[in-house]
Amino acid sequence: MLRTGLLWLSERPAMSRLLRRNGLARRFAARFVAGDTVESAVEAARQLNRTGITATLDFLGESIAREPEAVQARETYLQLLDRIAREGVQANVSLKLTQLGFDLAADFCVANMTAILDRAKALENFVRIDMESSAYTQRTLDLFLSLFDRYGRHCGVVIQSCLRRSEADVERLIALGARVRLCKGAYLEPPEIAFPAKSDVDRNYVRLMERLLARGNYPALATHDVAIIERAKRFAAEQGIAPSRFEFQMLYGVRRDLQAALRRQGYNVRVYVPFGTQWYPYLMRRLAERPANIAFILGNLLREAAHRS
Ligand code: FDA
Repeated sequence: MLRTGLLWLSERPAMSRLLRRNGLARRFAARFVAGDTVESAVEAARQLNRTGITATLDFLGESIAREPEAVQARETYLQLLDRIAREGVQANVSLKLTQLGFDLAADFCVANMTAILDRAKALENFVRIDMESSAYTQRTLDLFLSLFDRYGRHCGVVIQSCLRRSEADVERLIALGARVRLCKGAYLEPPEIAFPAKSDVDRNYVRLMERLLARGNYPALATHDVAIIERAKRFAAEQGIAPSRFEFQMLYGVRRDLQAALRRQGYNVRVYVPFGTQWYPYLMRRLAERPANIAFILGNLLREAAHRS
C-alpha cells in the first residue's frame, strides 16, 4: 500500500514543486543524487573509478512538456559524453526517451536521440535507454530496434522482469545480439500486464537473467537483491561464463558495501549516477522500493531538531 502511495505521489507535479524547495528533502535526495551539475556527476564517476567501479551517468528528467527542455537534455548529454572522453572517465550515459520529447513528437525525440548516439559512436561510448512505465514499453523497443542497425554497439535497452511480456522481449533481443539491462521495474503497473506478487517478479528476474547470462550480449544485471546476485554468480560459475561477460549494476548511494565487495571479488560493477535538479520522481521511486528510507528521513529530522533545541 505504501509503495502504491509513494509511486502515485511520484507522478504529482505539485508535490514535486513543493518538495524540491524543501531543504530536508533536498538533503535526503543528496544521498541518491550526485549533485545538480555535470561536474558533480563526473566527479562522482571519478570517485567510483578509483575503486575500480564504472558509472552510467543520468541527467535527471522525464515526461517533459516543452521542446526547450528536451533540447537542454540533449545538449547536456552531448556535453557529458565530451567530458567523459576528454577526462578519461570510465562511464557511459543513461537517458529516458520522455526526457527527449517522446510525448511531444516521435520524430523530434528520434532526432535528439540520433544526435546523442552519433556523438557516442564517434567517441566509442555507449547510451542506455532506460525503460519507463508500461505505457512506453512497446514504443521504446520499437524506437530502439529502428536505431539498432546503425547504433547497435553503442546503444542498449532495459527490460523489466515485472512485465509478463518480458520473456518474449528478452528472446528477441538475444537473437539480435542487443545489449540488455535487466531490472525488476520501478513503476506502478496493472496486474493484467505485470506480476502483482513480488515473488513472481523475482522468479521471472532469475529466469530472464539466466537466459541473458547464457546467450545475451554483455548483459547488465541491475539489482541489489543479494539472493539473486548470489544466484547469478553461481550460475555463471557452473556454466563457465567468465565474469568479464556481464556486469552488475546498482544505484548511487544504495548498498555501497555490496558494490565494493563484488568489485573485490573480480566482478564488473557499474553504478547508476543521477544528477540534476529534477530529482523528485526518482527519489519517490527509491522511497517506494524501500519504505525504511522514510524512517531514515524522519530519524534525521528528529536528530536535527534535537540538536537545534
Ligand atoms: P528489491 O527491491 O527486491 O530490493 C532488494 C534489496 O535491495 C532490498 O532488500 C534493499 O535492501 C535493497 N534496496 C533496493 N532498493 C533500495 C533503495 N532504493 N534504497 C535502499 N536499499 C534498497 N527500473 C525501471 O523501471 N527502469 C529502468 O530503466 C531502471 N534502471 C535501473 C538501473 C539500475 C542500475 C538499477 C540498480 C535499477 C534500475 N531500475 C530501473 C530500478 C529497478 O527496477 C528496481 O526498482 C530497483 O533496483 C529495486 O529493485 P532490486 O532489484 O534492487 O530489488
